[in-house]
Amino acid sequence: MNKFLLTICAALILFTTPAQAQDLGVELEDISAEKYNVHIEKFYATLPQAKGTYKSRQRPIVIEGAMNTETEVLIRALKNPIVYRELNYMFVAGTYKDYPVVVVRTEIGVANAAASTALAIKKFNPCAVINQGTAGGHDPALKIGDIVIGERSFDNSAYRSAYSAAGAGIDLTKQENLGTYAYDATTKKFQAYTEFFPDPTLLRVAKSVADANKNFNVTTGVIGTGNTWYECVDYMNFLHDKYGSSCEEMETNVVAQVCQNAGVPFIGIRVLSNNVTNSREYVAESAKTCQEFVLLVVDDYISDVLKN
Ligand code: 5AD
Repeated sequence: MNKFLLTICAALILFTTPAQAQDLGVELEDISAEKYNVHIEKFYATLPQAKGTYKSRQRPIVIEGAMNTETEVLIRALKNPIVYRELNYMFVAGTYKDYPVVVVRTEIGVANAAASTALAIKKFNPCAVINQGTAGGHDPALKIGDIVIGERSFDNSAYRSAYSAAGAGIDLTKQENLGTYAYDATTKKFQAYTEFFPDPTLLRVAKSVADANKNFNVTTGVIGTGNTWYECVDYMNFLHDKYGSSCEEMETNVVAQVCQNAGVPFIGIRVLSNNVTNSREYVAESAKTCQEFVLLVVDDYISDVLKN
């Protein structure tokens, strides 16, 4: 090959190779926790498949997690688990402490969380929905492994930016949160909500479990939801200051929204698997801590609220 052709080839390779991912500090395979998935998938494959519709004398508690790593502990805690599938989402029904519980693997992101929650509500008629799993910290005071009980959530993508002309640069600090639309039982209309609140009873139980179990590092805080994974600390600091966000993830607020539409009590509980405001680590195993804490909350909710 002559020099000219070589130069053309080199240029082609240089300009057509897709840009390498920037150093996000977190490998994509860790985000989907792919390396932990194989053994969990094998375990899930051993569970019996349901035939027919779900029947239960008592309304079950629904507990949700987006990924295998966020549902395995819960599913292993169920007695007589049985798998229902709807639109390819997986719902595992069983009992916990002799009370019916359904664990939903919502899959990642807002659309999946909303769809699988709506299906779970129609299929299982739950008395409560708990969405739980991992999150990334916005609050530098929080460490990986710390648990945030969501005393509020908001949509961390429903923004309207301020107008700026072409070439004027980007200033996201001028954005306003528009909220997302949910049903208001009083006006019987859908209206915009810039924040959602958990069911007060679920919140009370979760807080009392936190007080009684000091081996978990638990705080109440604000959960920001969107299909976004931020690693730009200045913007995260801005979100923390403006919206009070403790952490970001991709499911809680839309589940709160769907539960409000359906009039079902809801709470979101998250563990930090990463917090770039103070560390570059990502700890997928923190998902286990959240599930263990949530099982204690479910235990108390069953004995103190549902069986009383
Ligand atoms: N940003 C966004 N989502 C996160 N998750 C964990 N950490 C973060 C983060 N820093 C959760 C989301 C989603 C999956 C990618 O992990 O809720 O389900």
